[in-house]
Amino acid sequence: MRVVEMHDIVKDYPLTRALDHVDFALDSGSIHSLLGENGAGKSTLMKILYGMCTPDQGHIQIKGQSERITNPRQAINLGIGMVHQHFMLAPVMTVAENIVVGSEPDTGLLFDSRKAALVVDQLIARYGFCIKANERVSNLSVGEQQRVEILKALYHGAEILILDEPTAVLTPQEVEELFVIMRELRKAGKSIILITHKLKETLAIADTLSVLRDGRMITSGLSIEGVSADDLARMMVGRDVDLEMTNRSKTIGPISLQVRGLTLKGKEKNILSDLSFDLHRNEILGIAGIEGNGQSELIEVLTGLAKAEAIVFQHEGTTLSGDAHDFIQLKIGHVPEDRSTRGLIKEMTVEENLMLGYHRSPRFNRRGFFRPSAVRDFAQRMIKDYTIKTGSSRQRCGSLSGGNQQKVVIARVFSEDPDLIIVAQPTRGVDIGAMHYIHERLFELRDQGKAILLVSADLDEVRRLSDRIAVMYDGRIVSISKPGEYTETQLGLMMTGSSVEGCKDDNQA
Ligand SMILES: Nc1ncnc2c1ncn2[C@@H]1O[C@H](COP(=O)(O)OP(=O)(O)O)[C@@H](O)[C@H]1O
Ligand SMILES: [Mg+2]
Repeated sequence: MRVVEMHDIVKDYPLTRALDHVDFALDSGSIHSLLGENGAGKSTLMKILYGMCTPDQGHIQIKGQSERITNPRQAINLGIGMVHQHFMLAPVMTVAENIVVGSEPDTGLLFDSRKAALVVDQLIARYGFCIKANERVSNLSVGEQQRVEILKALYHGAEILILDEPTAVLTPQEVEELFVIMRELRKAGKSIILITHKLKETLAIADTLSVLRDGRMITSGLSIEGVSADDLARMMVGRDVDLEMTNRSKTIGPISLQVRGLTLKGKEKNILSDLSFDLHRNEILGIAGIEGNGQSELIEVLTGLAKAEAIVFQHEGTTLSGDAHDFIQLKIGHVPEDRSTRGLIKEMTVEENLMLGYHRSPRFNRRGFFRPSAVRDFAQRMIKDYTIKTGSSRQRCGSLSGGNQQKVVIARVFSEDPDLIIVAQPTRGVDIGAMHYIHERLFELRDQGKAILLVSADLDEVRRLSDRIAVMYDGRIVSISKPGEYTETQLGLMMTGSSVEGCKDDNQA
């Protein structure tokens, strides 16, 4: 049975058509993956179904009945629940209180908390949620908070559950746990829409899938049977994408950056202990490691945001000071790991962000006078070269999707033609089209003779891009190797501080 049918949905925003005559249908008791790159219109389509957003055109049927859904309360009454990318829980309240609030409008917080806890406990047991009803939400991990949101929807009678990129905030293990819960829910007859741009996840759990691209429905209600990752990538991006692309440097050049004895003290112990490495021209040196093992601090020291206790630090034979401004002068480019706080100013326009920190560059000035037209021309070129999806160069950067924001940062840094580039988490939260593009640019820059230091928590990415791989654990570099020297498992072990020798022995045994 069709539990949801959306017909001919159109949604216009001032600068973009977010949805262009879209049809969508959901079968009862199935998991339906709604795929699409950032900005494709996935959230908008589902916000329309959940009554958070009104379409300009089109109509919706729930279980065969035509419905006008104008607010979430109405959607909830129709059995629709939605878990958003950003959770909306009250941290000081318990799990049960968070779940029940909203259905107890008259009593407010004075509801029968014991009865609520009982009902919530039953739900937790029934679907195997592994959380405690009387636990405070502030004590829960992100994955657990997400389960509370799902429970909340179920408590309010959801038969149709929309999950908007639920795995973006989860560790691989939590993703597995979520999938177990989703399968339980399907068994119980619930219908689930999983919004994602991750192909692996779609292939792992979906029964059917739909693909949105640029506001258009490319594929609607396709069965997962016989579909490959390459097929999905092609539908999402609109062309073939080589998901396994690697490209090693042909000739490693002379040393660009030399770091010796880098030590950074923390309150109790060293955050960075005696790091030494060389970075060559025509080389991508990848730093692999589980987040929190000193990678962020390493970048802070290298970009002058933190001062090390000890360091010998040379760029092209010149010793550097610790001032960020000197680094830019020295043509060191930096793509920061957190684009939303360090890379961009969201309130500013795309144009302004593209020249952030470079406004004194000769490119934008003539005889000491700033030239707005030069900025506009430059912005137009960057938007075209990097296919930045934006209504205009004067749109606020904050309204762009994550992937397009990242392209703005990368366009700015790369266009300044730095000799040495420090890139941190360059494709985090970025869709595959943009990821592929960013990777190609990095190879191109490397082949032009740039020295690139790549820091990424994504081991696949490090292995694919790097000419050498350094593994960081507990503030130290525990190994530097060529790709292929160690297997993925062995690198993974080193990232957790285990010895690879032990692993080799195990393999032989
Ligand atoms: N409130 C809004 N105002 C203006 N444009 C918006 C708004 N919400 C979304 N958009 C635009 O609509 C398009 C679709 O966005 P969205 O549905 O969030 O995509 P997705 O969830 O697939 O990443 C994007 O181009 C986005 O910039
Ligand atoms: Mg979205």
